[in-house]
Amino acid sequence: MRTSTIGGWAIVPGDKSIAHRALMLAGLARGTSTIHNLPSGEDVMSTASCMSRLGVTIDLQPEGARLDSAGGMLSPDCELDAGNSGTTIRLLAGMLAGQAFSCRLTGDASLRCRPMRRVVDPLRQMGASIATEGGSAPLDITGSRLHGITYTMPVASAQVKSAVLLAGLFATGTTTVVEIVPARDHTERMLASFGLNVRRHGTSVEVERSDPPPGFNLTVPGDMSSGAFLLSATALTGGEVSIDSIGLNPTRAAILRVLERMGASVTTHAESEEAGEPRGTVTVSGLIEYPIHLSEQDVPGLVDELPLIALLATQVQGESVIEGAAELRVKETDRIAAVARELQVMGADIEERPDGWRIRGKTPLRGESVKSHGDHRLAMMLAVAGVCARGETVIEEAEAADVSFPGFTSVFSSLGAAIEAD
Ligand code: S3P
Repeated sequence: MRTSTIGGWAIVPGDKSIAHRALMLAGLARGTSTIHNLPSGEDVMSTASCMSRLGVTIDLQPEGARLDSAGGMLSPDCELDAGNSGTTIRLLAGMLAGQAFSCRLTGDASLRCRPMRRVVDPLRQMGASIATEGGSAPLDITGSRLHGITYTMPVASAQVKSAVLLAGLFATGTTTVVEIVPARDHTERMLASFGLNVRRHGTSVEVERSDPPPGFNLTVPGDMSSGAFLLSATALTGGEVSIDSIGLNPTRAAILRVLERMGASVTTHAESEEAGEPRGTVTVSGLIEYPIHLSEQDVPGLVDELPLIALLATQVQGESVIEGAAELRVKETDRIAAVARELQVMGADIEERPDGWRIRGKTPLRGESVKSHGDHRLAMMLAVAGVCARGETVIEEAEAADVSFPGFTSVFSSLGAAIEAD
C-alpha cells in the first residue's frame, strides 16, 4: 500500500446491527418477510444460520432474503453457533430465554471469552434459566416463564438493552430498560415500526408482551460503521467521498460529528425512512486538522469507530484524549491494547490508558507489518493507516474485514487506495 488520495462515490454493505434485528424479527413474524440489501458478512450469516436452525425457512438470494416463519420458533434442544458475533449471541439469549424449549448458544474462541453476565444477569432477574461457563458462552438456556422488570443498565450497551427488550416481548407485565447514556436504538425503532408494544419515555424504554408482527419487507440501509472507514480515509487524505443510501440514525452517525469537529466538511441528505431508520447520502471532504477529546458520554455513539478515531488523532497537530472507553477491552479483541500496539509499530505517538488513549500528533506513519488480531475493525483501520503511511503496510489476517465488510478491499481500491488482497 502507498499514500493516495481517497475520493469518489461508494456504496457500503447493509447495516449489520439492523440486519441482525431484521432476521430475528422475521423469525418471530407470522408469514413471509423479505429483507433486501442484507449484508453477507460473516456475523449476519451467523444470525441467519441460527434462525434457520430455529426452524425459520430462509432463502438467501443476491436480490434479497426471504424468510418464512410460523410466528414462533420451532426447534427444541438445538445448539446455535453465533460465530464471532456478540450481537447474535446476546440478542438471541434475550429472544430465547422465554421460549418453551431449551437450547445452547455458543460461538468461536473469541466470542467464548467475551462477557455474557451483562445479559444473563438481567435475564435471570426476569426468571430466565441460563447456565454459563464461568460467565461466558456456551450459554445453556432452559426456556422459562419470564416476568417484566425495571433494569437500569450498568454499562451503556445496545446489545444488553436489546436482549432485555426482546425477552420482554415474551414476559408478563412491563419490561423497562433505563439507560444512563443512550446506546444505539435500532431495536426499539424496529419494534415500534412493526406495531409491537414499545414506548420510549425520556431515558427509559418500555416493552410489553406482543403478538407476533405480520411478515414485512425491509431494505437495510448502508452501514455507517463500514462507511466510517472510507469517510475517514478521505478526511485523512484531502479527498471527497460520497456514500449513497447509508443509515443516518443519529445514534449511529456520531462519527460524522467527530469528523466535523476535527475540521472536515460533512453534508448529509436524508431521503427516506424504513423500519424507523432514516437513510440518505453523506459526503465528507477536506482534511482534518484539530485534535479531539472524547469521554464516557460520547462512547456509546462511537463505540465501533473509536479505533479509527485513534488513527485520525495521530494525523492532526496536538494532543487528543479518548477516555471512558474501557468497553473496548471486551470487544472482538482488546481494542485499547491492540490499537495502541499496532499504531505504535507504524510510528504513532499513542499511549494506552486503562480506559482509552492519549495521542500526540502529528506523527508521520511508516508502512510496517501489522496485525489485525483477527478483528475486522482493526483490519480496516490499519488499511486506512496504510494509505497515510510512507512505504508498504502489510496487514496480517486482513481477511477479518469480511466479518462486517466483505469486498472492503475492492471498494477501498475503487476510491483510489493502492491496496490488494493476497
Ligand atoms: C451492537 C452494539 C455494540 C456494537 C456492536 C453492535 C448492536 O455493542 O459494538 O458492534 O448491534 O447492538 P455493545 O452493545 O456491546 O456496545
